[in-house]
Amino acid sequence: MENPYVLTHKVPTHKDFIDTTEFDQSEMLDLVKISTAIRDYIKSGNTLNNLYHKNLAMLFEQKSTRTRVSFEVGMEQLGGHALNLAPGAIQLGAHETIGDTAEVLSRMCDMIMARVDRHTSILELATRSTVPVINGMSDYNHPTQELGDIITIFDHLPEGKPWNQTKVVFVGDSTQVCASLMMITTKMGMNFIQYGPPAKWLNDHYLQIGRANVQQYGGSVHVTDNPIYLEGADFIYADVWYGLYDKETPKDVYMREFYPKYQVNDELLALTGNPNVKFMHCLPANRNEEVTDSVLDGPHSVAWDQAENRLTAQRGLLAYFGGVAEPIMEIIKNQKEGK
Ligand code: CP
Repeated sequence: MENPYVLTHKVPTHKDFIDTTEFDQSEMLDLVKISTAIRDYIKSGNTLNNLYHKNLAMLFEQKSTRTRVSFEVGMEQLGGHALNLAPGAIQLGAHETIGDTAEVLSRMCDMIMARVDRHTSILELATRSTVPVINGMSDYNHPTQELGDIITIFDHLPEGKPWNQTKVVFVGDSTQVCASLMMITTKMGMNFIQYGPPAKWLNDHYLQIGRANVQQYGGSVHVTDNPIYLEGADFIYADVWYGLYDKETPKDVYMREFYPKYQVNDELLALTGNPNVKFMHCLPANRNEEVTDSVLDGPHSVAWDQAENRLTAQRGLLAYFGGVAEPIMEIIKNQKEGK
């Protein structure tokens, strides 16, 4: 990324941030630039208030720690305010549709972030809302996690290796986090592999998105149950094996399918042959199921940096979709240049 303060896109090309497939590589790199510039500026003790008097409505149909806290703290750090509209706290789901909720929130708030059970809900919310809508995770994808994850990958790139030669291996089930990681890494021209049981591989819809990215940006996309593909991995990524959307399958069924072959432990990391391999997890983790304590808490883990980068990403998204990315980049550039 040549000039760290100059954006290719001065204003968002889309009203909403629902699916990174709608954004090209240069737009995603703009978001990385804004996010990391704000992070470095705030970490150096500076403050910003460009979102003063702006309000973010946060709708949650499910629990959240990282998404909830990072959006609320991100709004506050940019001078704005966030409203936590948890299940049962508003009329949504009881007497009011998501579309009608969108109409009302659009009249009172400047942006909406929503975590929904079904992707169709976020699409309806965006259609009916006149203000930007940010997808805080659906059953289809998790784009704010994608942005935080690609920032983490850039932060921990192997020394001297061009980022488009990076190899990222997701171990486990084709969760929406797996799909999202595939979408963003292939958008960056990286090499993506899902290593898991064949019945749990990413479906053709997702793989077609990955293949289109590979055609446009280079890199590769594979699904496999062959551990040979772990060799040379720069990043190993895990997510929980059960309990998010598939709440019906008993735990022992999942455990039989994934354990021990797909548990990220010291032996699996050794199969990469890379002494500097990094371990990532979107969290929350089911410790000693998909990942052992020794890996999550060990020297290869960047999972806590990754969690912190959820805040890095949210500030960038809030600045960009809140329409203040350009002035913020100008403030940061002027400070760097001593103006
Ligand atoms: N990774 C993630 O989205 O975490 P939360 O469910 O805690 O928001």
